[in-house]
Amino acid sequence: MKKEQFVCPYELYENEQELDRQDAELLRLAHEATAKAYAHYSGFRVGAAVRMANGQIVTGCNIENAAYPSGLCAERVTLFSAQAQYPGVAVEAIAVTAHSEHALVDEPIAPCGACRQVMVEVEQLSKRPLRIICQGQVGPVMAFDGIESLMPFIFVDKFL
Ligand code: THU
Repeated sequence: MKKEQFVCPYELYENEQELDRQDAELLRLAHEATAKAYAHYSGFRVGAAVRMANGQIVTGCNIENAAYPSGLCAERVTLFSAQAQYPGVAVEAIAVTAHSEHALVDEPIAPCGACRQVMVEVEQLSKRPLRIICQGQVGPVMAFDGIESLMPFIFVDKFL
C-alpha cells in the first residue's frame, strides 16, 4: 500500500482588482446577475457568468422552487443556457459569486458537487481546462485552472 496525496492548485487574489481585465469583467457580470436570482427560500442569491471561445458571455443565477430539489444552482443554469444557445462552442471560464440577504458573504463560494460534475462534462466537451473564478459579495478571489483542481478522480464517459 502507498499513501498518495491530491494537490489542489489555485490562485488566490486579495480582491477583484488584482485580476486581469477579462476575469474582472466576468466577475463583475456575475455580481450583476445576483440581482436576477430567484432565491425566495434561502435568500442566498448566486450569480454566474460564462465566457465562451466565440467571445460570447452568458450570465445566469439560481432559481429556487417551493419543491426545493426542483430549483437549480446558478452555475448549472448558466452553463446549460450557454450550451443551449451556443452548442459546440468551448467554454473558457466561469465566474461565480453570491450575495446573501442574511449576512455579508466575504469569502469565495465554491460550486456544489453537482455543479462540479456538470463542469467536468463542459470541460470534456470544450477540450480545454475550464477556469473557475469564485468570490463572495466582497473579499478574496480564488481561481482554479481546470475542474480537477476542485474535484479529484472525476467520473467521465470513458467509464461507461
Ligand atoms: N447555490 C448555487 O446557486 N450555487 C452553488 O454553488 C451553491 C448553492 C444556490 C442553491 C440555492 O438556491 C441556494 O444557493 C442555497 O443553497
